[in-house]
Amino acid sequence: MIAQKKRVLSGMRPTGKIHLGNLHGALANWKQLQEEYECYFFIADWHALTSEYQNPQKIKEYVWEMIIDWLSIGLNPEKATIFIQSKVPEHTELHLIFSMITPLPWLERNPTYKEQKQELVEKDLNTYGFLGYPVLQAADILIYKAHLVPVGMDQLPHIELTREIARRFNYLYREVFPIPEPLLTEVPKLLGIDGRKMSKSYNNAIFISDPPNVLKEKVRQMFTDQSRLRRSDPGHPEICNVFSIHKLYSSSEIVNQIETDCRRAKIGCVDCKQILAKSLIQGLEPYQEKRQYYESHLSEVKETVIAGIEKARTIARATLEEVKAVVGI
Ligand code: TRP
Ligand code: SF4
Repeated sequence: MIAQKKRVLSGMRPTGKIHLGNLHGALANWKQLQEEYECYFFIADWHALTSEYQNPQKIKEYVWEMIIDWLSIGLNPEKATIFIQSKVPEHTELHLIFSMITPLPWLERNPTYKEQKQELVEKDLNTYGFLGYPVLQAADILIYKAHLVPVGMDQLPHIELTREIARRFNYLYREVFPIPEPLLTEVPKLLGIDGRKMSKSYNNAIFISDPPNVLKEKVRQMFTDQSRLRRSDPGHPEICNVFSIHKLYSSSEIVNQIETDCRRAKIGCVDCKQILAKSLIQGLEPYQEKRQYYESHLSEVKETVIAGIEKARTIARATLEEVKAVVGI
């Protein structure tokens, strides 16, 4: 007998093109998971709307940019089901049912909610939809009865809430939902060019679709070991972001050489960065070639996503039927 594969589900908000932080964090993880599990990966466009409702024009464009990036870096639709949240309306229906049974204090005390509301002051997030963000996320996860949810640290409170909603539903009506587990994604310490966390909103990201001249310029601007003021000062590669990226894109010979030379002040940062730019351009070339292919074969991309939506809907529909039956609506 073949053991049933565990089901993995995760989503990403359409915030734009994929950068190195996404690539070596969440997406590297998803690529591995698709080899082993029954995977569902989707674009969380409703979640984007909770914070971008005043400026929703870009969401649609970003949905497709992101899907093209996913395919280019090797998410494989033969192995993983790739779809768009808003095209599977069952998510929103389950979200409504969950909103009936979710006590308000569970949402109000959510640390991610409190933090985001404080941080994103330029947006008015004092809305019903934003408070319910994790209820929608619970619906995303539970409608597929997913077992494992790969996420970063910041998402753990949302997964905990999903577990509580699942338990509460099972207790109120009938045992319908398995209790999902988070799968914590290991994120390599990759910083943006200004030394802060790499993020689209900080304007410091290196995108996998950046053309060679842009890559060169961004690498040139990168912060290095800030204590290395003069060319003659020895450097500390272990705290240098340029070195972190070398380790991902340069050969081990180059990495070893740079490490020794940097510590002995035998290489300057300008030269070190030129080598990095070359490795990065070379390393990203295969993705960029695929990206060009998908950009000029958009109908193929759309067909892939339509097939993913159909597959997702089949499962989502069945769960929703079951839910309505046990609630008695
Ligand atoms: N909230 C997640 C994030 O910002 C995105 C997301 C939406 C998600 N629904 C999900 C992640 C379901 C995992 C499972 O990263
Ligand atoms: Fe960083 Fe390279 Fe400069 Fe060393 S030589 S501090 S590794 S950029």
